[in-house]
Amino acid sequence: MSGKGGVGKSNLSLNLGYSLAQKGHGLLLMDCDLGLANLDVLLGITPDRNLQDVLLSGADVRNAIVKNAAASLDKKTAGAFDILPAASGVPELTDMNSDMRDLLIKRINPALRDYKIILMDLGAGIHGTVQSFAAMAAIRVIVLTPEPTALTDAYALIKVLSQDLGVKDFLVVVNDVAGKKEEELTFKRLETACRKFLNVSPVLLGSVRHDLKLQEAVIRQKPLMELFPEANAAQDITTLADRILKIYARMEPYLEGQEPLRILEKK
Ligand SMILES: Nc1ncnc2c1ncn2[C@@H]1O[C@H](COP(=O)(O)OP(=O)(O)O)[C@@H](O)[C@H]1O
Ligand SMILES: [Mg+2]
Repeated sequence: MSGKGGVGKSNLSLNLGYSLAQKGHGLLLMDCDLGLANLDVLLGITPDRNLQDVLLSGADVRNAIVKNAAASLDKKTAGAFDILPAASGVPELTDMNSDMRDLLIKRINPALRDYKIILMDLGAGIHGTVQSFAAMAAIRVIVLTPEPTALTDAYALIKVLSQDLGVKDFLVVVNDVAGKKEEELTFKRLETACRKFLNVSPVLLGSVRHDLKLQEAVIRQKPLMELFPEANAAQDITTLADRILKIYARMEPYLEGQEPLRILEKK
């Protein structure tokens, strides 16, 4: 998730998903940007059904899931994972209320039990749907870039989630950096503000370097990890995947027996 749009959430989700799937973890990539969904575009696929159909028309979620979403483009692809796409331009779902949230959880949780990891790509902003999705996850990752506007928007998102929902645990990825120095500086700024004003201590997961290969992958509508696994950004994303797996391993005993997506009530 992120406060600001265009900071790289969808590309990081897609390629992180690819990397985790390659490491052998059954993975579902879920497009939770119900206003401006685009994981399907990044993969160059046109799904028949989407999350909104499941929610609004009662479609079976198993029929909306696209199996082997990346491998279908290239038979040689090692990283096979499934995606649950969403539709763009459905304004009534950018502000999900609690009834809608409960319905969503009830309809999709049964199908999600088949997966070890569910990776959710959220929309930008701090509105109801973003908050609902953010609260459902076991691990939350905030993405920002070194731009001051990305920083203030990331801070605003952490603020609403911590003050309204009592969520205090956040991992941070600084995207589009020139190098380690920029990563550290950006993270420090966010961390200092969060500690001082919110009593929240976000944890740095890592950074992804600015990389023209990522932009080329977007234009070619294929995952960076598939086209350019040696690119700087691809290497950085692999490191993020390894770190997430380490955190996941520590959490696994506590997640045992829990539903994939949970309802976290407002404080
Ligand atoms: N590490 C990066 N290096 C270069 N360009 C990037 C990088 N990350 C994101 N971009 C650019 O930013 C654009 C928006 O990324 P996207 O993943 O769609 O953002 P979001 O989902 O947060 O709105 C991409 O299409 C790409 O052009
Ligand atoms: Mg996006």
